[in-house]
Amino acid sequence: MKINLIDADGSSLANVRFITNESCPIAGISSAAFSGEALTSFFVHGDKPLLCVGIGSANTLSHNTFRKAAGIAARHFPQIGLESVTISLEGYGEYTQAIVEGILIGNYKFEDFIVKDKRRKHTLNELNLIAPAPHHKILKKAIHRAEILADATNFTRAIGNLPPNILTPEELSERARQLAKKEGLKCKIWTEKALEKEGFGGILAVGQGSANAPRFIRLDYNADSDNAPTLAIIGKAITFDTGGISIKPADRMDEMKFDKMGGCAVLGIMQAFARLKLKINVVGLIPSAENMAGSRSYRPGDILTTWDGQTIEVLNTDAEGRIILADALAYARDIIKPDFMIDMATLTGACVVALGAERAGLFCENTQAVNTLKTVGEKSGDRVWHMPMGEEFSELMKSSIATVKNISAGRYGGACSAASFLANWTGDVNWAHLDIAGTAWITEKKPHLEVGATGYGVRLVTEFAEAFLIK
Ligand code: BES
Ligand code: ZN
Ligand code: ZN
Repeated sequence: MKINLIDADGSSLANVRFITNESCPIAGISSAAFSGEALTSFFVHGDKPLLCVGIGSANTLSHNTFRKAAGIAARHFPQIGLESVTISLEGYGEYTQAIVEGILIGNYKFEDFIVKDKRRKHTLNELNLIAPAPHHKILKKAIHRAEILADATNFTRAIGNLPPNILTPEELSERARQLAKKEGLKCKIWTEKALEKEGFGGILAVGQGSANAPRFIRLDYNADSDNAPTLAIIGKAITFDTGGISIKPADRMDEMKFDKMGGCAVLGIMQAFARLKLKINVVGLIPSAENMAGSRSYRPGDILTTWDGQTIEVLNTDAEGRIILADALAYARDIIKPDFMIDMATLTGACVVALGAERAGLFCENTQAVNTLKTVGEKSGDRVWHMPMGEEFSELMKSSIATVKNISAGRYGGACSAASFLANWTGDVNWAHLDIAGTAWITEKKPHLEVGATGYGVRLVTEFAEAFLIK
């Protein structure tokens, strides 16, 4: 999208206005029709179109409200045949990044498989931002950042929305390779053979039931700096989760194509790092498999040996995410030895039951990291909620015949016991786990956002890395 900065003289050109409760009623609009309530909108017809978007009370403005309000504008204009949006930033300059992100994210829709003449006739192709010329320099920085983060979010969504017949583990690894080539990252891919040779018993077991063989993907972004800290990001990428032999019910099983969103987020974050050129070394790790039921599938009762020699008693093949993550976390712990590692996974239905679709479950015992993730979460729109793990849960995962079993003894606290399971493979490394099962995709469109993958985690982790690791 073309983004232009225009000097404040052009204020009369604006076709979007953000309106607070306090500035209502607006001349010519009854307060019943439009009160400025956050994320409501009112379109004023006339010789010059004007979209009023509510942002709620002036006392509670937030970046996230502006991001969504901008998304509403981005989705409204193309529907009435207009491809250009003009917004005055007057008084709202500090929200520029959020506004630009909202426009770019709002403008994306998954249309790869819709025949050409049935696709949207119009999409936004121009964004004009009005602000006084002396502010332009600093605003340009915010715009640049927003473009990188929104592009990375949409890149994650674009891969995430691909169907499971196309986006297999092998295809995901090809996409990673292409990304690496384009952005100047290092890329290493383990095929099934290489996984066998090096003992990635978790990824292999989960993937063995599928004709689409598993992969393990590693991407490296190297900051050109001697004392840069190292971050490892690990993402679950089950390209389709049938549950395996412990098969899932048919209802809504199609949504399990999104069980790869942790891995897709890793790809987006790697793209963002490469483009922001941050002074942090980042290693992205993506264990990827298809969890199928068949004659070659792993089974309840199997005992697996992970990359570091620990063992897992499988009691439910649908708790597969934690098994592939065990291999990847152990590899990160021993080979990367990062200053911090963070994993993202659509790990448990229990997390969705606990937190709903707005916040991801955050499991982390480093108070400073928790606080930074909370703050950055509110600002980026990728919100988190701190959840407990530890002894009371790991107690329930003990096995009498292996290091651990893959499901807990009781039904309750499933998101917490899953996180505690992962902790067996993290050692002393500073680590955070994000259960993104509720936030990674939506099935009903919102005023500011299309259905499908949300790209959750891309903005959160990128902004977190900078806030937490750069001193
Ligand atoms: N991918 C699912 C978790 C999931 C379910 C994410 C629904 C989003 C929506 C995961 O692999 C899984 O099936 N987990 C099981 C674990 C259980 C067997 C302990 C679950 O949550 O039911
Ligand atoms: Zn599963
Ligand atoms: Zn899964």
